[in-house]
Amino acid sequence: MLVLIKETYDDLSRHTAGMIADRIRRKPDLVLGLATGTTPLGLYRELIRLHRNDGLSFARVTTFNLDEYIGLPRTHPQSYYHFMQENLFRHIDVDPTAIYIPDGMAPDIDAQCEWYEQQIVRRGGIDVQILGIGANGHIAFNEPGSSLGSRTRIKTLADQTVKDNARFFKTADEVPKTAITMGIGTIMEAREVFLVASGAGKAAAVKAAIEGPITAMVPASIIQMHRKAYVLLDRDAASQLTHTFRG
Ligand code: PGA
Repeated sequence: MLVLIKETYDDLSRHTAGMIADRIRRKPDLVLGLATGTTPLGLYRELIRLHRNDGLSFARVTTFNLDEYIGLPRTHPQSYYHFMQENLFRHIDVDPTAIYIPDGMAPDIDAQCEWYEQQIVRRGGIDVQILGIGANGHIAFNEPGSSLGSRTRIKTLADQTVKDNARFFKTADEVPKTAITMGIGTIMEAREVFLVASGAGKAAAVKAAIEGPITAMVPASIIQMHRKAYVLLDRDAASQLTHTFRG
């Protein structure tokens, strides 16, 4: 596990984008796992800039998103499909047929989850998976208590996650209570994992994940078991680390 600490959110976003650009230049048909939320916004802005100004092409890249709310149509402004279109896909040259996001409106959710797993395999597996971390230590919608070996499935959001995500909806009641999420076992099969966190609100979760015991109560702690994991932090997110080199 390599912990990289950058001074500011912008530095963090630029650095993470640079690492992804490097992977795409080395392997133009990279299979890239993507995340939603506030944290990757700066990263996506930087990838768009690299596409526009530096000729970074996503034409052969395949993307797999981590999760999607159940019951929100793709056109809903808070669906993760919509988020990805607005914040990344419509600004780059990615092939629309190589974009995978779980379908939260699928009539058979279990079949959709199984299909999603099969597509990851069919595309050769995920090369690089970007992850955020919840204030409660979740990764994707794998809330505390999720099986560390889990596969793509339906999960109920933790109360804290509903509260955290209420900021995007008019009221907390409007936040969907269930989602399709890649499992922790699925995420761990990615060849590289980049866990990105910014801000003091994540400092306790980051400390628990990388300096605490591996436990299903802190799903992000599983990355201690990954062979090629990078933890990319800004100063504030790193502020509670005591054992990690912070030079
Ligand atoms: P955030 O979400 O980037 O909006 O903080 C991260 C997460 O909950 O996984």
